[in-house]
Parts: sequence; C-alpha cells; structure tokens
Amino acid sequence: MNDKNKNSSEKEGRDVGGISLASDLVKSKEEIHDEELKTVFECRNVNIYYSDFKAIEDLDMDIYEKKITTLIGPSGCGKSTFLRTLNRMNDFIDDFRIEGNVLLHGDNIFSKKVDPVEIRLRVGMVFQSPNPFPKSIFENIALGPRINGYTGDLDELVEEALQKSYLWDEVKDKLTASAYSLSGGQQQRLCIARAIAMQPEVLLMDEPTASLDPISTSKIEDLLVELKKDYSVVIVTHNLQQAARIGDFTALFYQGKLIEFSRTFKVFTNPSQKLTEDYITGRFG
Ligand SMILES: Nc1ncnc2c1ncn2[C@@H]1O[C@H](COP(=O)(O)OP(=O)(O)OP(=O)(O)O)[C@@H](O)[C@H]1O
Ligand SMILES: [Mg+2]
Repeated sequence: MNDKNKNSSEKEGRDVGGISLASDLVKSKEEIHDEELKTVFECRNVNIYYSDFKAIEDLDMDIYEKKITTLIGPSGCGKSTFLRTLNRMNDFIDDFRIEGNVLLHGDNIFSKKVDPVEIRLRVGMVFQSPNPFPKSIFENIALGPRINGYTGDLDELVEEALQKSYLWDEVKDKLTASAYSLSGGQQQRLCIARAIAMQPEVLLMDEPTASLDPISTSKIEDLLVELKKDYSVVIVTHNLQQAARIGDFTALFYQGKLIEFSRTFKVFTNPSQKLTEDYITGRFG
C-alpha cells in the first residue's frame, strides 16, 4: 500500500461527516508532491508475533522523510507493536518474533550484523508518560550524548535541544533544578529535547500527549510541526483531531492489519476503505 504511486485527488475529497475535522485539516492540506517524497523506512511483508499470536499481519508500508506519519486505530490493533519495531524496542519483549524486512535507508534493521543500540540512536523514542531521569534538567539532556562520547560543547548542545523543543525560555534560569520540578507538559518537552540531543534521524512517539492538558498538547503539536523540518516523525495517537491537525500521512490499523495508508487529508476526507470511514466518523473504536 505505497501511497507514492497514487494519484492525489485529495483536494476534491468528500466530507465523510461525523466528527468535525474540517478546521483541523487545514494544516495538512498543503500538497505533498510525490517527487519530493523520500523514504526513510520501508516495511515489506512484515509479520510480528508474540509467541503464537500474530500482532501485525503482512504489513507493507513506507515512512517518509521529514514528514509526520500518524498511526491510528482502536486499542490493541498493533500501533505500539509496529512503532516499537522501528527502533527494535520489541527486542526487550519475550516471545517477540518478526518476519519480513524493515529497511532503514535500505538496510534491514533486523540483520544479524546490525547493533540494536545503534538503531536506537538513529531512531529516538518518546513515550506516553513523560519519563525524565531523576536528575537535573541539564543532565537529562547532557547524559546521553556524554555517555555516547560526544566531544562538542555540551552547554551548546543542551541549549539547542531545549530551544528546538520550545522549552528553553521556561527553564534557562533553572537548568540545575530537578526535572521533576517541571510540569507534565514541560517534562514531555524535556523528553523530546533529550531525544533530539541524540541527533536521531527519526523520532517515534507513542501517544506523547495522552497525559497532557490541551495547552501542553497544543505546544507539543506546534513543536512537532516545527521538528519535521529536520526529522521524520512517527506518532501514535488516539486523538483523531490531532492526527488531522499535524499528520502528513496517516495509517489506520485494525486487528493487526494496515487498513489504509495515505495522505492525512485523503484519509479524513475521502478514505478508500469503508472501515476507515467508520473509524474516523466514530462508528467503532
Ligand atoms: N508484550 C506483549 N506480549 C504479548 N502480547 C502483546 C504484548 N504487547 C502487545 N501484545 C498484544 O498485541 C496486540 C497489539 O498490541 P499493541 O500494544 O501494539 O496495541 P495498540 O494498538 O498500541 O493498543 P493501544 O491503543 O491500547 O495502546 C494486542 O492484542 C496486545 O494484547
Ligand atoms: Mg499502544
């Protein structure tokens, strides 16, 4: 289901009704031309199992560079399983098994030659609940690069990461304070800053705003739209308005299968599958 080859007729999309997403879709209306799309991840014939249970079935999907891809679908459909596959976080789960190919810039990340630690440096992750280290704001960002042998100026790196995550102005006078002294929304931006400081190619986010208030959520959404200038972002969300607001591409999963993958505007206005239409209009899930 490679969207690249499809002729984009999304401008003429019909309104599928249900929840009002029209105003949310404004940002994603900008046309994305096929020629400008570069693939970061190519997933081919991917099946993922936990013991005998197949959590992802026959997945073919591309993730595009410097775009936001949103993964949506009802609870248990395999969104987190797929997301965790992209930086080999599933390796930590007993009974996890994968078939098929997940290529990062053409290289199979599950090849025996590949070091999973290296993949996790290239593909950073932010989780649902902010999980800063029990250290200062500064150390939360500096620790990873330092351990990783970063030889540049750490002060500069920390400031840059905090600037990029729109947190600098709020914390610049208390960098030595505990990260736990920050609000939930600030902690989540700190976690994003921490991920950015490792200079990854891709940022994975599993429901990063699920525990945040609307103002913090809005700040993080603005931040993600800014970040896609430099990074490819893959985000799981249960918030359809959020997917409509920030997604360039949207993938709907259902019972371990990729039902639809297309430009966000198309998915929300002119889906090709009945299941997609039912999901985005709130008829199930
Ligand atoms: N560690 C695990 N061991 C066994 N089964 C698992 C494990 N993690 C997930 N599963 C199963 O795999 C399926 C997909 O789970 P996953 O967490 O990927 O869903 P999800 O779409 O992220 O759901 P949610 O929206 O609730 O977070 C579910 O049936 C789940 O029970
Ligand atoms: Mg999940």
